[in-house]
Amino acid sequence: MNFYFAPMEGVTGYIYRNAHNAFFNHNNIGKYFAPFIVANQSESFKTRELNDLLPENNQGLVLIPQLLTNNAKDFIHTAKKLKVMGYEEINLNLGCPSGTVVSKNRGSGFLAKRDELDAFLDEIYSASITKISIKTRIGKDQPEEFYDLIEIYNKYPIEELTIHPRIQKDYYKNKPNLEVFKDALSLSKNPICYNGDIFTVDAYQEFTTNFPRVNSLMIGRGLLTDPSMVNEVTNNIKLDKILLKQFHDQIYSNYKDVLFGDRNVLFKMKEIWSYMIQAFTNNTKYAKKIKKSERLSDYEEAVSSLFREQEVLISQGQIFDK
Ligand SMILES: Cc1cc2nc3c(=O)[nH]c(=O)nc-3n(C[C@H](O)[C@H](O)[C@H](O)COP(=O)(O)O)c2cc1C
Repeated sequence: MNFYFAPMEGVTGYIYRNAHNAFFNHNNIGKYFAPFIVANQSESFKTRELNDLLPENNQGLVLIPQLLTNNAKDFIHTAKKLKVMGYEEINLNLGCPSGTVVSKNRGSGFLAKRDELDAFLDEIYSASITKISIKTRIGKDQPEEFYDLIEIYNKYPIEELTIHPRIQKDYYKNKPNLEVFKDALSLSKNPICYNGDIFTVDAYQEFTTNFPRVNSLMIGRGLLTDPSMVNEVTNNIKLDKILLKQFHDQIYSNYKDVLFGDRNVLFKMKEIWSYMIQAFTNNTKYAKKIKKSERLSDYEEAVSSLFREQEVLISQGQIFDK
């Protein structure tokens, strides 16, 4: 199985990625996907985007930049800049469900504009700057839209088609539509990667039993909760509390170095904790303390007491089973 770390805007930037790669990647996360950047015609990247994508900030891991746009000229222009930086594959975001993105017919909003999408793909694949993979939902309003979409996708040499089998309207609610995903496997002429709700080792095992032909899996929230999840699946290496603390400390220290102001550091750390806290026993009161902390000292105290007083406990479908 090929495992990929999903792009998560605001969370899996280069600081998180590097720490994950250093502490938990036993050569089994083949690719880390960068959170999307919006393609445009400007000569250079914004500082934040550049920092995230600079090869020197991503050493020792395979990074795939992701672009969000419905404008082929913007895609091609930005792809050329990424190619100069050394990137050989670019991922196209056709999945983002956020209202502000969808209202501009980007992300999963683009899925409803099928003629425009077809023309866009024709132009970017003809330009052939880099390999292009796609991350898609199965439709904007209805799962049945996927049957039109796959006919379009089949016209192009997609490096890998990652399917998150929800529609835009689902956001992250409801269950992934595995019926449509099953059809996708038989209909697609391009290699398929699955993404969605693989939160536990049990969920992974159930998925591989049901879909033995799938050999690429992209995981997001499951890895944010248990950064060792793929190690458990591949080598039976369970999440280790001491390692998790070191991982946390590296991320925290690096954010303190690069971000301006304690509030920004706390904001970033709290977002990570909204996932990672679920790896701990009796976590409710600690989650509240972390969330409420307004100073670094309060935060540090909350995190220390969590690590001191509780254990990590990830097993049998326990996380996200709310
Ligand atoms: C906070 C957050 C940020 C995300 N940012 C991106 C993004 O930048 N690009 C993208 O393609 N998907 C993004 N996603 C979607 C994830 O990559 C992934 O498809 C989704 O979480 C489902 O996978 P999972 O169930 O393994 O988490 C984001 C999801 C969340 C919750």
